[in-house]
Amino acid sequence: MNLLKITDLQTHFVFHDIDNYRREARALNKVNLNLNRGEIVGIVGETGAGKSLTAQSICGLLRPPAKVVGGSVLFLGKELLSLAEEDLNDIRGAEIGMVVQNPKSSLDPLTRIGDQLVRIHQTHTASAISVARSKAIAMMHAVGIPDPEKRFSAWPHELSGGMAQRVLIAMALMNEPKLLIADEPTTGLDVTVQAQILELLKDLVRRFEMGTIIITHDLGIVAHYCDKVAVMFAGEIVEYGTVTDIFRRPGHPYTKQLLASTPEKLKLNEAGSLGGQPPDLFNLPEGCLSQDRCSLASDQCRTPPPVITLETGQTVRCHFALQ
Ligand SMILES: Nc1ncnc2c1ncn2[C@@H]1O[C@H](COP(=O)(O)OP(=O)(O)OP(=O)(O)O)[C@@H](O)[C@H]1O
Ligand code: SF4
Ligand SMILES: [Mg+2]
Repeated sequence: MNLLKITDLQTHFVFHDIDNYRREARALNKVNLNLNRGEIVGIVGETGAGKSLTAQSICGLLRPPAKVVGGSVLFLGKELLSLAEEDLNDIRGAEIGMVVQNPKSSLDPLTRIGDQLVRIHQTHTASAISVARSKAIAMMHAVGIPDPEKRFSAWPHELSGGMAQRVLIAMALMNEPKLLIADEPTTGLDVTVQAQILELLKDLVRRFEMGTIIITHDLGIVAHYCDKVAVMFAGEIVEYGTVTDIFRRPGHPYTKQLLASTPEKLKLNEAGSLGGQPPDLFNLPEGCLSQDRCSLASDQCRTPPPVITLETGQTVRCHFALQ
């Protein structure tokens, strides 16, 4: 069953500079993505590719000057882009859970972590405090927080970065959301905890048919945990399809580069970069945005490439897909 359908999502930066000239830059260009219940989609791409902006655009969490200027985000048939803020608030934290990229700043510094978990549960359900408390402790345990009864009373400033990240994941999962959007959820955690959390997510996906979007630099995570993958470059999805198809036969030159880039095969460097500069969003080239970094670039690439659907169903934004 279709859970999330994103069509031609368009996000721009719109502001006035110090000389009061209106400036506008295209940050996300016609992003299309489909997620069914029980599916995990990975979003990969180098730093600045627009992965977090995609997540924030879906959830209505963009900060100015970023602004959605077009497209549609249907969640269970409901258009999220036209919902009032309070309706969106009802959905976020209940039906949609979100793990943001920099967790520490997302915790309320003045509330003990257990109380934050209880609060998120009680805001969206009619649970008694004892039920919410048991649920919070069980969830802390599930995300690998040792001694959860004791840690329940900890203050956010007492937590290490990794521990704060686990609390954020527990918060996102407290209400068993139908959709989880996790932006670099396990970056910085040690491998054992990372695997533990990803297995937990996979289990929830299976048990509750939760749909999940995982943003990551780690192609190993995509290979092991995701059903589909979207490869982003300069605010565009350049390739999208099942992990099996794309890892077997990537169609876009950038995806090929990503998959061929590392000795352990699947690990990008921290920035996810393969070298070269991303295009300046305020001065985008005509045509394909990859042209300065693509060894196949030709004159034809100075015109915008079409999005081609291959036999496998994977979509590729390139004039020369699969060559
Ligand atoms: N609110 C904002 N205002 C202005 N620029 C922004 C804003 N948010 C993001 N950007 C810029 O938009 C581009 C895309 O940012 P985004 O955070 O989506 O990248 P990302 O793919 O998540 O990168 P990373 O892997 O480093 O997290 C970057 O150049 C970033 O600096
Ligand atoms: S359209 Fe041209 S420049 Fe762009 S990815 Fe394809 S071959 Fe490379
Ligand atoms: Mg990001």
